[in-house]
Amino acid sequence: MKNLENYKIKNKKVLFRADLNVPVIDGLITDTSRILAIKSSIKKLILNKNKIFIISHFGRPNGEIIKNFSLKFILSSLEGILGIEKIHFLKNLEIKNIIKTEVEMQSGEVCLIENIRFQKEEEKIDYKFAENISNLFDVYVNDAFSASHRNHTSITGFAKFIPAIAGDHLLKEINNIDSFLQNSKKPNMAIIGGSKISSKINLLNNLIEQFSTIAIGGGMANTFLLANKKNIGNSLIEENLIEEALNIQLKAKKYNCKLILPVDVVCGKNIEDTKPAYRKIEEISSDDMILDIGKITTKFINEEIINSKMVLWNGPVGAFEYKPYDKATNEIAKTIKSNAKKLNINTLAGGGDTISAIKKTDAEDGFNYLSNAGGAFLEWLEGNESPGVIALKENNYN
Ligand code: 3PG
Ligand code: MG
Repeated sequence: MKNLENYKIKNKKVLFRADLNVPVIDGLITDTSRILAIKSSIKKLILNKNKIFIISHFGRPNGEIIKNFSLKFILSSLEGILGIEKIHFLKNLEIKNIIKTEVEMQSGEVCLIENIRFQKEEEKIDYKFAENISNLFDVYVNDAFSASHRNHTSITGFAKFIPAIAGDHLLKEINNIDSFLQNSKKPNMAIIGGSKISSKINLLNNLIEQFSTIAIGGGMANTFLLANKKNIGNSLIEENLIEEALNIQLKAKKYNCKLILPVDVVCGKNIEDTKPAYRKIEEISSDDMILDIGKITTKFINEEIINSKMVLWNGPVGAFEYKPYDKATNEIAKTIKSNAKKLNINTLAGGGDTISAIKKTDAEDGFNYLSNAGGAFLEWLEGNESPGVIALKENNYN
């Protein structure tokens, strides 16, 4: 793969794919790590007097121009975090506008392009469009690992027409995740949570073959509990995946992978119920909704962490955005924080909610690497190379 060390980009027009799909609450960015992530590559490109056009998606406007999804709001944070006085803004990809802006820009200047998902050509892969845009640039840089699992025009299309180069952060993500997986030391454990088992089936099936223990929490554990004929009351389930949950358990047995399922939980009547009820699994009543794992299960998981040489974490074990159902997730983060370095446990976490829980508890220190990718992190752990990374590898323009 060409990268910013082995491929020189100087005085060029650069089309730079970032992932500026940052989390926003009430108009405020709650985590700026995806902006920080591109800083290293952008600095190098500026230093070499390139004109840099940053392209990104934000949300899912589905090819429509929807004001709420405009990327304009991010300009000032982008300028602040990247330390750039003024970043130009291009409101669409009309060729005459690109040319006009490019002429206005000095070498070493940066322009942000409006949300690429405002373009119909983005998500359906349009090679004619990709070619027309690519013709206006010298090179394409992909520094958006977290979006590289999408086979979209700005991820895989431009790489068909001009030299395509891996950005520093994309490389860092791949190197860290791969080195974690390739340097496996047993006993190792994975903590997998999140609301839906449907999005984690492939992951679980792949991890079972590599991990000694997998702890399952979050809404997805409910389907396993139901598959084991437990009464789970009014909890979220995916009924059509009961069979799948049983298959996963069988496979785990075959591979000698210990599955930890909740033996106790914290329930509410609904997600907004602030008076939680503690329940052993056998005690759940029909109007209970499981919203977190209980203290005994949390203790099992924490003991297992301490006895592991490697810990992989993806997905909160409770409905952690709703207090007090963030308790077990926070405790797991704290256990990793206070033990990982001391006990030399190699730790990796990824996924928006997981990282946000880790940051909230100030537990970043406990992790060897935090991936800022969600879906792309999952797919990589499933053993699938992202289309965006394949496009970089296959690119042979010089
Ligand atoms: C993400 O936030 O996971 C990436 O930016 C990809 O976004 P998407 O799931 O809307 O494709
Ligand atoms: Mg996503």
